[in-house]
Amino acid sequence: MSLQVEPRILPSMSTIRLRNVSKVFGDDSHKARALLQEGRSRDEILAETGYVVAVRDVNLDIEDGEIFVVMGLSGSGKSTLIRCINRLHPVTTGEVLIDGEDIVSASTDRLRELRRSKLAMVFQHFGLFPHRTVQENVEYGLKMQKMDVDERRARSETALEQVGLEGWGNRRPGDLSGGMQQRVGLARALATDADVLLMDEAFSALDPLIRREMQDDLLTLQRDLGKTIVFITHDLNEALKLGDHTAIMRDGQVVQVGTADEIVSQPSTEYVLEFTRDVDRSRVLTVGSIMRQPDTLVQGRDTVRTASARMRASDSDYMVLVDSNRQPLGLVLEEYVGPAIQRGVNDLGDVVSDSFVSCSTDDLLIDTYDSVIERQCIVAIDEHGQLAGVAEHLDILSSLAPATEITPAVSRSSHPANAHASTEAGAEQTLPAESTR
Ligand SMILES: Nc1ncnc2c1ncn2[C@@H]1O[C@H](COP(=O)(O)OP(=O)(O)O)[C@@H](O)[C@H]1O
Ligand SMILES: [Mg+2]
Repeated sequence: MSLQVEPRILPSMSTIRLRNVSKVFGDDSHKARALLQEGRSRDEILAETGYVVAVRDVNLDIEDGEIFVVMGLSGSGKSTLIRCINRLHPVTTGEVLIDGEDIVSASTDRLRELRRSKLAMVFQHFGLFPHRTVQENVEYGLKMQKMDVDERRARSETALEQVGLEGWGNRRPGDLSGGMQQRVGLARALATDADVLLMDEAFSALDPLIRREMQDDLLTLQRDLGKTIVFITHDLNEALKLGDHTAIMRDGQVVQVGTADEIVSQPSTEYVLEFTRDVDRSRVLTVGSIMRQPDTLVQGRDTVRTASARMRASDSDYMVLVDSNRQPLGLVLEEYVGPAIQRGVNDLGDVVSDSFVSCSTDDLLIDTYDSVIERQCIVAIDEHGQLAGVAEHLDILSSLAPATEITPAVSRSSHPANAHASTEAGAEQTLPAESTR
């Protein structure tokens, strides 16, 4: 089933900021706030009052047009957190800012407007009306907004096309497979034209093959429509595949935020480390994250003799020859250097092996397997075509073993959310300045 998406000229834009968000389920919110303020633990609060601290002191920055994944075991607070974003659950403390506007203190009218125009939700079990047609289901939110029939119809048809269900509008959900039903759920969210999609375990009920297909299609949709997507899953592989950033939750708190690469190669707690053990790292790690800086020779400046001397000094069996712009020209192999000197050849251009393999720093390790076999290395090139680094066969193999130790979360990542995701050791009292993007 293929997706038909017409890219929009202006992608929709929305940022979400969570500031010290806590949610306690219990009947007395004053009491709940006091208990949180006293720093009482989740277990103490539960034992003493029966209140459940479902989310605690969460600070996150979700950027325009990214897929932000929230991952954690069942009961860790993911659904509660996502429902705090559209205020399906009122927060106990904290702020939820959508494009700078605090939804926590919005009036009922404003809240309705925000839900209508900005925040659409996709649920795990589809949430479709069985006795209505696919089209009626997709148009449901629009009808509630009292949109006229023609516009509604046009919107639902576009949305059904976008999810690959053109022509299915008159069927009932029961005629469709699970995967197709979830496409209807997605179409319903897209039809509202909301900037933000909140997807709570949207693919968790699907068979593995269908699930993978939906993941791929979501990535395509995302690329073309540029929505801001908050995606919840309990599956780390799904998180790493979809997320530009992933937040990992445990017992209501965020224990780490990072890119797939960062989480897999620098888990910040034992809990995250445990999760990452079974990940297929070749599908997560990029060449850029494991490459090393090679010895280089510059065409026109260095000679075969200098190459020979430097190889001996550094005990390396190859070097990368670059031009004056640092664009790689090839590898100079030790085995050709000695004979070249004996033949009186001194120009590196005469010994360089131009059959080297280059790749982008963004390429996944799994895509390098074939090229690195029987070569010294693959050469990684940045967006300007310049040498970024090299990855040797052994660099790649050794990076596939799971991490064995944790990397404490201090200033590990440039993602602003990391700066205030340190909820474990007492939340920060002062908020960092709003990031300027
Ligand atoms: N409406 C509710 N009332 C009381 N407790 C709740 C409610 N919803 C969720 N919880 C509790 O909050 C915690 C987090 O639940 P939830 O957010 O559903 O986790 P997840 O989505 O990660 O499985 C759990 O202990 C759950 O039992
Ligand atoms: Mg849930």
